[in-house]
Amino acid sequence: MISDMRLSVARLWDGGGWRAAVFLGVGLAAACPRDVSAAPSAREVFAKHCAQCHGKDGHGFTPMGKQLRIKDLTASKLGDAEIRSQIMEGAKDKKGIVRMAPFKDKLSADEVEQLVAFVKGLRQ
Ligand code: HEC
Repeated sequence: MISDMRLSVARLWDGGGWRAAVFLGVGLAAACPRDVSAAPSAREVFAKHCAQCHGKDGHGFTPMGKQLRIKDLTASKLGDAEIRSQIMEGAKDKKGIVRMAPFKDKLSADEVEQLVAFVKGLRQ
C-alpha cells in the first residue's frame, strides 16, 4: 500500500516536472522573441538598405550606381573602422552634396557591425 502511494506520488511529480519543463521552455521562448534566427540577416539588411545603389553583390551595376559612378565594394580596400564610419556617416562630395546617406539613425549598432562583416565578405 505504502509503496503504491510512493509510486503514484513519483508519477505525479514526474508529470509535473515534465509540464514545468515545457512551461519553462515556452517562457524562455517568449522572453527572447528576437533570437538570432528571427533577426534579419546581414544579406537582408544589405538588400533592403544598400542594394538599390551597390547591387546585391556589391558591384554597383545598378541605375543608381551608374549615375553615382559608385565604387565597387568587392574591390574596396577599406578597413573595419572606415567601413563602419562610411555606413554611419555616409559620404558627401567636395561640394557637400550627399552621395551616400548616413545610416546611423536607420540601423542598430548590431546591424552596422553585421554589415561591416558582410561588406568585407563581398571581396573575392
Ligand atoms: C544612394 C545610394 C547609396 C546607398 C543606398 C548606399 N550607398 Fe554606399 N556608397 C554610395 C556611393 C555613391 C559611394 C561612394 C562614395 C564616395 O564618393 O566616396 C558609396 C560608398 C560606400 C562604401 C565605401 C567604399 C570605398 O571603398 O570607398 C561603403 C563601405 C558603402 N558605401 C557601404 C554601404 C552600405 C553598407 C550601405 C547600406 C547600409 C550603403 N553603402 C548604401 C552610395 C550608396
